Amino acid sequence: MAGTGIFTEILDGEVYKYYSDGEWRTSSSGKSVAIVNPATRKTQYKVQACTQEEVNKVMEMAKSAQKSWAKTPLWKRAELLHKAAAILKDNKAPIAESLVKEIAKPAKDSVTEVVRSGDLISYCAEEGVRILGEGKFLLSDSFPGNERTKYCLTSKIPLGVVLAIPPFNYPVNLAVSKIAPALIAGNSLVLKPPTQGAVSCLHMVHCFHLAGFPKGLISCITGKGSEIGDFLTMHPAVNCISFTGGDTGISISKKAGMIPLQMELGGKDACIVLEDADLDLVASNIIKGGFSYSGQRCTAVKVVLVMESVADELVEKVKAKVAKLTVGPPEENCDITAVVSESSANFIEGLVMDAKEKGATFCQEYKREGNLIWPLLLDNVRPDMRIAWEEPFGPVLPVLRISSVEEGINHCNASNFGLQGCVFTKDINKAMLISDAMETGTVQINSAPARGPDHFPFQGLKDSGIGSQGVTNSINLMTKVKTTVINLPTPSYSMG
Ligand code: G3H
Repeated sequence: MAGTGIFTEILDGEVYKYYSDGEWRTSSSGKSVAIVNPATRKTQYKVQACTQEEVNKVMEMAKSAQKSWAKTPLWKRAELLHKAAAILKDNKAPIAESLVKEIAKPAKDSVTEVVRSGDLISYCAEEGVRILGEGKFLLSDSFPGNERTKYCLTSKIPLGVVLAIPPFNYPVNLAVSKIAPALIAGNSLVLKPPTQGAVSCLHMVHCFHLAGFPKGLISCITGKGSEIGDFLTMHPAVNCISFTGGDTGISISKKAGMIPLQMELGGKDACIVLEDADLDLVASNIIKGGFSYSGQRCTAVKVVLVMESVADELVEKVKAKVAKLTVGPPEENCDITAVVSESSANFIEGLVMDAKEKGATFCQEYKREGNLIWPLLLDNVRPDMRIAWEEPFGPVLPVLRISSVEEGINHCNASNFGLQGCVFTKDINKAMLISDAMETGTVQINSAPARGPDHFPFQGLKDSGIGSQGVTNSINLMTKVKTTVINLPTPSYSMG
């Protein structure tokens, strides 16, 4: 059970504490923030509404703890991360339970998220030992005009304090994808969880606490974005921001100082289907890609662009599979569960109604109860409909029929997003040419978009973000290069 057993100390009455200076604390604000269960629409949990003074304190601790952490041997940092990963996996049940209750993620997927997170931490520890334990050695006589009088040694050093802001849809996994690289690289870490997902994050942070990381190195500060959001992101102690979420990231980027930013801000991933595609494979991937976690994934298939000649057959196959999706409570592992909030459900409904007014074909009847929206495939969507461009972040998928591959590529590239895309064809040469033409960070050939495996590079173009993620790229992004040059009095050559 969440908040019990080893997690008892993170709870104060009915309000979860925040984590600062190696201890679980109650905010001096005396206020809390309610977390509403998307399925029941009732308050499920409460977290501390931290103050700006508490943010200042956390930053002060983070700065000082980082100094000694950077001197901690790399193997030791890795050892602690492995320990945290093991504790996290051992306690997957209560963490998964809070995911179910605060973000309505189906129970099985919630467990998968925690296990995947443990694996990510361990992989990151191993990768960190490999890539941070090596540097470069450059010789000056490779550049014209120089003799071999300079030896240049490069290494990767930490940035300082990393601020991590994960989204509601993967509060644990997308938090650890920021925390683990930051820590292995010798940074300290301040976590600001999303409101929905905060309790899962607090449980996850407790696993790091139990692993024995030094005091002040990791902090988790909860509260209202309106009160501490800008204060955190514009804080002078912050040396790097890693954010995943919506277009708030654009304003964070504009306000942040001259620090490295890693931003992943959503997508409108296109699925281009050619005439020679295996339509059964396409249909399965559209279901997996478009409807898993009720479409609330930045990498969800968000628009299908199918060649007119195979469109009828594909739509029939997808319709048959949509009919089999189960709809209901996350506890029962239903495929489609309530979307995260009423405002999200209203937004999705707005897109659906716009498509209805403009004449889209509804493959199922539109149905909504509270935040629960039944899966909906919209055929014959045209570019003048909002759903052709906007990200519903819900179980609603538009199909646009195209008469040429170029039309599909043009639609994909006209989007302000550029996260991932996919193309289905048996012709690998065509697939490569289409992949090259698509302006997205990744193109999947014959599979739905996905971030994982978590060591693959993951990046968005245009409004989808800046900086590349994936374990290795995150470690690199959270370091800077330091060089030392040895200047010799005379050219020197090792002659072997
Ligand atoms: O929602 C954004 C996530 O980065 C998507 O991750 O492809 O593993 O679902 P995923």
